[in-house]
Amino acid sequence: MYLTMDEERIYDGESGETLAKCMEILVTLGEIYGADRLIPVRSVQVAGVSYRTIGDAGLEWIRDLEGEARVPAILNPAGMDLEEWKKMGIDEEFAERQLEIIRAYERLGVRPECTCTPYHVHNDIARFRDHLAWSESSAVSFANSVIGARTNREGAPAALAAALIGKTPNYGLHLDEEREPTLTIKVEGRLEDSDFGALGVIAGPLVKSEVPIFEFEVRPTPEELKQLGAAMAATGSVALYHVKRLTPESELYREPRETITIEWSEIREVYNHHCEPDLIAIGCPHTGPKELARLAELLKEKQVKKELWIFTSRKLAREHKEEVKEIRRSGAKLFCDTCMVVSPASERFKCMMVNSGKALNYVPKICGVECTLRRTEECIERALTGEKR
Ligand code: F3S
Repeated sequence: MYLTMDEERIYDGESGETLAKCMEILVTLGEIYGADRLIPVRSVQVAGVSYRTIGDAGLEWIRDLEGEARVPAILNPAGMDLEEWKKMGIDEEFAERQLEIIRAYERLGVRPECTCTPYHVHNDIARFRDHLAWSESSAVSFANSVIGARTNREGAPAALAAALIGKTPNYGLHLDEEREPTLTIKVEGRLEDSDFGALGVIAGPLVKSEVPIFEFEVRPTPEELKQLGAAMAATGSVALYHVKRLTPESELYREPRETITIEWSEIREVYNHHCEPDLIAIGCPHTGPKELARLAELLKEKQVKKELWIFTSRKLAREHKEEVKEIRRSGAKLFCDTCMVVSPASERFKCMMVNSGKALNYVPKICGVECTLRRTEECIERALTGEKR
C-alpha cells in the first residue's frame, strides 16, 4: 500500500505513539483488504461507546490515547441518556463509567453527540460521493444507499484511527466496482412504515454478500428506507442497497442477472411473534424530525397507559422543543444519546413492542427481552389504550 511521506513519518512514530498506532491500524486493514492508499474522509462516526459493550478495558484503551480528531467525528449511542439517566433506572456506578468514556472521547476531539442517525442532525456530515469512516451498521447503510456517500463498516478502533488521522484505506465500498448491484429483489405488496423493517429481516439473510437493488410497488420514504437498511444490516450485514428509480446510484450500473421475489405473505409473517408488552419502544434507528412530528401528533392531548420510550439524538430534541413537549406531556419518556438495545435499562422488562426490524432482531439477543413488531400507529395505540386490539 502506497503511503505519502507524511504518512510514512506518522507510521514511524514522528508524530507520537497514538498516531503511529492509528496509522498501523489503518495500514494493516488496508493491506488485508488490498487498498492501494489512504483517502481523506469527510466525517467519522465512532462505535464502542456504551459502557455495557466496551467495559473497563475499552475505557482504559481510549483513556491512553492522545491526539485530536482532524475531521468532524461523532459517537454512536451510549448506554444511557447522558442527562436523564436516573429516569432510565441506570445506577450511579454505570453512569459514572459511561460519562468517563464520553469525556475520554471528548478529549480526543470527538464530539459528545451520541446518535446512529447523524445524517438527521448535520447536513454537511455526509454528501453524495463523500468518503466516510462510519461504524454503526444502520448509519453505514443509510449513508451508502440513500445518500450515495461511501463507507465501509468500521470497527471502533479503525473509526477512531480514521478520526485522528483524517483518512481511511481505499477498499470495499469506497470503490465503484464494489457498489454495482448484483441481485434484483422484487417486493410484492404496498408496503408502509414498519413493513420495511420486516422486509429487511427477511432480505438480510437472503442477500448475503450481494448488493441488492429493490423494486417496490410504492415509493418508500427516507424514513422507511432507514428501517429497511437497519434491519438488513442487522440480519445480514448488508451495508449497501439500491432502489430502482429512487436512490442516487440506482441508474449508474447494469441490471443484475438474477432476480428474486419477496411476497407480502412472507413479510406479514415477521409480525407473527406475539407477547404482552410491558415496554413500547420507538426510535431504532434514532427518530428523525418527521418521525418526531408524527409521534407528537399521535400523542397530542392524550395520555399513555403503558410505558412508552422514544429515542432520538439530543441535538434534534433541542431543535424540536414543541414536539418533545407534546410527547413528554402524554407521559411518554423521550430519551437522547442512547437506545433500547445498547442501554442495560431495557433488561428489566419482559416483552418489548417495537416498530423496528433491527430492534426485533437485537432486543432478544442483546437484552434477553422478548420482542414483538408492530406498525408505529399500532405501537402508539397500544401505549395509549394499554390493551390488545
Ligand atoms: Fe441505533 Fe440502537 Fe438501533 S444504535 S440502529 S437505535 S440498535
